[in-house]
Order: sequence, then structure tokens, then C-alpha cells
Amino acid sequence: MIKKIEDMFFLEGKGFSYVMRISREGYLLHDWFGKKIAPVAYGEDPRGWWCVQTEGADGACLDELRQEYPAYGHTDLRRPAVSVGPGGLALKYDSHRIYPGKPELPGLPSALPDGAETLTVSLRDKDAGVRADLNYTVYENYGVLCRSAVITNESGGVITLDRAFSASVELPRCDLSEIHLHGSWGRERHIAENRLAPGVYDISNARGGSGHQINPFVIIKDIEANEDGGFCLGVMPVYSGNHSTEIEVDQRGRARVNSGINPFMFEKALKPGESFAAPECLLAVGDGLGELSRTFHDFIRDRICRGRFAHAERPILINNWEATYMDFDEEKLLSIAGLAKELGIELFVLDDGWFGKRNNDRCSLGDWVVNLEKLPSGIDGLAKKVNALGLKFGLWFEPEMVSPDSDLYRAHPDWAISSGTRSPGLGRTQLVLDLTRAEVQDYVINAVNSVLDSANIEYVKWDMNRYITDMPRKGFNHEYTLGYYRVMGEIVNSHPNVLFEGCSAGGGRFDAGVLCYMPQIWTSDDTDPMERVYIQYGTSLAYPPSAMGSHVTDGPNQYTRRPVSMKTRGDVALSGNFGYELDITKLPAEDLDAIKAQTALCRELRRTVEYGDFYRLSSPFKNNVGGWMSVEKDKSRAYVTLTKMLFRPNSYFTHIRLKGLDPNARYTDKFTGRTYMGDMLMNRGILVDFPHGDFVTYTMWLIKE
Ligand code: DGJ
Repeated sequence: MIKKIEDMFFLEGKGFSYVMRISREGYLLHDWFGKKIAPVAYGEDPRGWWCVQTEGADGACLDELRQEYPAYGHTDLRRPAVSVGPGGLALKYDSHRIYPGKPELPGLPSALPDGAETLTVSLRDKDAGVRADLNYTVYENYGVLCRSAVITNESGGVITLDRAFSASVELPRCDLSEIHLHGSWGRERHIAENRLAPGVYDISNARGGSGHQINPFVIIKDIEANEDGGFCLGVMPVYSGNHSTEIEVDQRGRARVNSGINPFMFEKALKPGESFAAPECLLAVGDGLGELSRTFHDFIRDRICRGRFAHAERPILINNWEATYMDFDEEKLLSIAGLAKELGIELFVLDDGWFGKRNNDRCSLGDWVVNLEKLPSGIDGLAKKVNALGLKFGLWFEPEMVSPDSDLYRAHPDWAISSGTRSPGLGRTQLVLDLTRAEVQDYVINAVNSVLDSANIEYVKWDMNRYITDMPRKGFNHEYTLGYYRVMGEIVNSHPNVLFEGCSAGGGRFDAGVLCYMPQIWTSDDTDPMERVYIQYGTSLAYPPSAMGSHVTDGPNQYTRRPVSMKTRGDVALSGNFGYELDITKLPAEDLDAIKAQTALCRELRRTVEYGDFYRLSSPFKNNVGGWMSVEKDKSRAYVTLTKMLFRPNSYFTHIRLKGLDPNARYTDKFTGRTYMGDMLMNRGILVDFPHGDFVTYTMWLIKE
């Protein structure tokens, strides 16, 4: 519902109101984003006493006003959402339009329009010749507000944007904290929380992709807000390039939040009449972190992910990477695939090393031609043999890259990104293709498509193993990101029956932009279940389990050397898109039996895990136990996973209260046969009967009677 009443705009989505007003001088001001309030106009806020330090000809001091899309330099001297350089802008309300659906943003991914209603407010600075069209989309059935901004040059000369955030929200207070997800390779999306104080927080990344280091998702919350209550506001740019969420706490104790493209090294020149679209940004509020996460999860599953697999049960896969690395031949792969079928696995994925002369990571990226020495019957022949065993076949690519030692690089050295002043820096001995250029995009599209069309490939893992350095100009990263979206869009859209999984040296590009093309992403190369409890817990703040690839690998784990039982490895991995990544042909019989049981269990509970409501029960960042549960939407089934890190003699009991169940229903735990009432599990809770030892799990598979 969107209504204009007097000088106010009232927008309503599921569970929230968003309110703006046009000030007496014509500025578009932010008024409220939070729990629903009735759409009845109320007067302007008192402006109070202030020592006027800046004042426009209209008498307004923008520094004092909470604006919807602030600009720097006229009478506001805080961090702006939009900037065309010194001199600033004074953007005033010009017109608005309310309509069903939502506008497309040229070249950018964005949420699906089904069930949407949009308000576009046009702001103008007539003196500067700049127009900003602000889009606000709401959905009756979702708690997410989509915002975007399109800036148009209406002047007679060229203007240069050096900031164009997607959204800005100004909270009237700063007794708040912010949470963001940070990390590194093998340690993605850990949780950091900072109490806000006057100053500027720049939660951003400038590594070329959304990055391992800082994820494009930030929560601003009541200091005391926890999983179950308290004001929480989440912002998530639908963007895979350099991003930033900036929070400025100003002299009057207000918190301005700008979110979108990172202004660092960004610039866009607009000729007269030209427009620039900033990516979409998703905003949501929740009473508690749990509610906020579930709002994002539902929206991501239903309006960000699309295509055949968005709501499909995801296949149990086995990937050969940690089993063989690049040292394999057809016989070895088929021996894994043959046994995998017997164990109940559904999809065999051939990872890196199948093309060119790639026996190590120093060559061949860009030469997407099968290595017939390793695979004499080609990809087609291998896919047929895997299919004959009763498994689907999937393949790994790293389409955005080129190795200096490759036929592609020898033919087109200028296709690699370079600043032009020195040899570009290498990452994993590879360079990045310049996807800002149409001919390079076309090459990649054709090269990947021709492999996909040559065989029965039903799954693709799309990797990106290095950051982007040596960018030749400001604004390049955004152009690259648009090129990446075009390439990915063309390939994905022409293969609707292929399930695509994103990857970037593990989970280095885990964002809503990628999820518009690929419904799942490899969460991390670190598959040690103890590490995964942190990684999956942190990731779940923003993204649903259906987006997280989650595999059982060797014990001891190849990276951490930590020995963890097959049971614990399986239990933790079962909380995402389940699979295996180890040489099953070398496992003892008891592990093979365990795998058979795990795949059977996965088939039983994956719909609940992938598409149920997710509740976090115990934070591994605060406790010795990490825990969560998924509850089927109709509350008929629930899967609970609790993982204890270290054993300590006579330590405190672990008391956990479950969430999200039907209080009046009786549930049977299929693992123990014990029955419980829903209200008992949620109010009294359980004392968890962990097995003795380190790194152990306690799981429940609750079925409503
Ligand atoms: C990084 C990925 O995260 C791994 O799973 C694997 O695909 C390698 N790249 C292959 O080079």
C-alpha cells in the first residue's frame, strides 16, 4: 500500500511502515521506518533550537534535516548519498508516481516485480540541472522495501557523479549499534558489532567483488536488541562490486545510513540527457535479529532467486576437488561417481583441472577446451558415463579469468585488466579479463555456452579466485560489475535447466546480486564443521540456508587438521545445500554406511532446511555451543542442530529453548522416539544430552503428530 496524504507519503509492506514528507521548503525528508503506523498525516517535527551555521536562500538548514537522498556542499556538510562535486545540490520535490510493479534498472539485477507496488519520487535541482528519481517498492507479503535511485543530467554540460548511493535512511537517534559480516578466505562472514558514537563508519570493500572481507549487509539495531526482540534495521545492496554502507552519527545524535556502490574510486561522467542507475538496495526492519533474518530469507528465496531451482529441492552432490585436486583421469572420476550413486548421492561435479593443460593453477584459464589426455571421451563422453551410472553431471568454470600461460592470453594480452603503467599484479598466478569490453564479454559467453551446449551438463560451479587490482580508471569496477552481470545473465538465461552455484575462492562473492542469477553459493572452502558453525551462523544473519553450499569433507580437515567425526561433519553440513567433497573410494565401511544414512536423511529433511523458517538458538560467538533450527512453514516438522565446541568436565549444562513450533502440538523426535509438546520445548526447553568429547552434535528431527 502506498498513499500520499497531504505532504506525506505512507508506504506499507508486511509488518512495516515507511513514511516520508515534503518539507515546507520542498525537500524530501525521512520520517519513519519501523513498525506499522496508521496512514494519517501528522504535523512536521519541531526543528528545535539550533545555532544556524548554514542556511540556504529558502531559509532551510539541510544539516538539520533528515533527508531521503542527501547531497553534500550546499547547506548540508555530512556524508551525502549523491555528489556531483563541490558546490553541492539542493534536490527538491518535483513530482511523483505510484504504480503497480517496479522499474527495471538497466544492466543491474533486482528483485522480481510480482506483487509489487512502487512510488517514484522525482527530485530536481533546477540550478544544477540534476534530477534524482527515487524508487520505493513495497510488497504486501514481504517485509522488505526495495530502493534505488536514477540520476539524470538535465544540464547543458557534462556532470560527474562521484557518489551515487542507492538509499539513505536517517534515524533520529544514535543509541544504537551496528553489526556487519567480516572475514577472510576460510573464515567468511563472522559477526562484528560496534556501538555507534559520533563519527563516520565506513563498512565497505574495494577489492573488485563483494569480497570475503566485508559482506554487503549491515544491521543497525538497538544496543540491547537480541535474537528475539528489539529494533533491527538491515540494509543489503543487490550488488557484487565494490560496496559501502556508511553510517554517520552527527552532532545532533542522528545516524545517517547510506548504502550502495562504494564511492572510493567511483566516478561516472554523464553527458547532457544521460542517466545513471544506482543498484537496488533492500531494507527491512525486524523485532529482533531472528525476525529480521527471516524477512530477508523469505524475500531472497521468493523475489531475488529465480528460475526453476529457486524453490526446488537441491541435489546432493559430490565434488572431486578435495578428493583429487587436478590430479585425475576419467577412471578415477568414474570410480568416485559409481560409489557415490550407491551411497545415495545425486550429482557428480567435476571441479578445476579439466581444460587446456591445467595440471596446476599456473595455466590455462580462458582456454575452455577439454583436456583429452585426462578425459579421452571429452566432457560429453564423461557426462554420458556419469549419467549412465544414474547421476547428474556438473562442471566447474572460472569464466572471468585468464592465465598468462594460456592460448587466450597469447592471442589477446590486452584483454587482461591492466592500469597501463606497469605489469598488473597476479592473484593465484592469474589475471582478470576486462569484462568492461563487449568483445571480451562475448568471448566468455560463447566459450562457456559452447561447452554447456556440448554435453548434458546440469550444474555449473562459477568460481572467481582473485581480487581485481590495477584497475585503469575510476568507475572501472562498476563497469566491470555490469559486464559480469551481462555475461552471467546471458549464460544463465540461455540455460534454464542448469543449476548454477556461485563461488569465489570459497565464499568471497556471497551477495544478493549473485543470487539473482544463481540460487546457491559455495559458503567457504573451510569445511571443518567447527569453523562452519561460525561461518554458517554468521551467513544466516542475511542469507537463507537454500543459498549456502555445505559439504562433508575429510577428517581430519585438510586445512585445519582438526579431527572431527563423520557424524558431526554430516550434521553441520546438513544445514545447507548438502554434499560431499572427499575421496569416498578410500573411506572405511563404517563411513560409507554413515554417508548412506546421511543422504537418506537429507532427502527427508532438505525441504524443511532449505525452505523452512530459520531460528538461531545459541551463538558460537558467545557460547561453547552453536545452534539453530529450521521449521517447516506449517510447523509440521523441524530440524534442530546444536554443536558443542570443546568438552569441559563438569561444565555448565546446556539449556536450550526451541523456537517457532506450534505450542499446542505434540512432536516426536525421530532420532530418539521421545515426544514433547511444542510449548514445553519452547518455554521450558531442553537440557541437551551431548555425547562425551569435543566437537559433538545433538540433533532433533521433530515431526508433528
Ligand atoms: C576455489 C573454490 O572455492 C574451490 O572449491 C575450488 O573450486 C577451487 N577454487 C578450484 O580452483
